[in-house]
Amino acid sequence: MLEKGLGKVLLSQEQLGEIVERLGREITEAYQGSKNELIVIGLLRGSFLFMADLVRQIKLPMTTDFLTVSSYGDGTVSSGDVKVVMDLDETITGCDVLVVEDIIDTGNTFSKVIRMLQNREPASLKICTLLNKPSRREVEVKIDFCGMDIPDEFVCGYGLDYAQKYRNVPYVGIYTGS
Ligand code: IMP
Ligand code: MG
Repeated sequence: MLEKGLGKVLLSQEQLGEIVERLGREITEAYQGSKNELIVIGLLRGSFLFMADLVRQIKLPMTTDFLTVSSYGDGTVSSGDVKVVMDLDETITGCDVLVVEDIIDTGNTFSKVIRMLQNREPASLKICTLLNKPSRREVEVKIDFCGMDIPDEFVCGYGLDYAQKYRNVPYVGIYTGS
């Protein structure tokens, strides 16, 4: 049975597990030779479930931190404005920084976050997103690790919300409204 408001399962729990495992392997390989401290940064709130599963698949010493920015209101359209609601606790200067995002849509939010983090002079800065909507891109974003490209549909579950709901749904489904 699907949640009310979700029309179709896009990624089942099993498919999500496979994607996260593959990303963990790719990330582990990418950073294996580095001598810098690895900091994995989750963008809240959307990335919290993905981040929790992903870090367990990265077989390297690391620290974790979280950043909250606000972009969307309670709707499905980006306002284009990005505000830092809660900043990092850690200093990232000289570290390998991996930013973990739930979904990259227009790229507006993310490009601003990346610019802000780049100003703090990390040794490297890479991006991992679970989902990517390339057809919606307005600002170019270089994605280093991508779970899956998806069509232009609004999706919920596994951390992703519509009006703050559905984050606890264990699969990713397409939002169709109630
Ligand atoms: P962007 O600035 O347009 O790339 O927006 C990115 C943010 O919008 C993501 O971090 C999500 O929080 C939210 N978002 C974009 N598309 C979706 C979607 O299909 N479902 C849920 N949230 C979305
Ligand atoms: Mg988000």
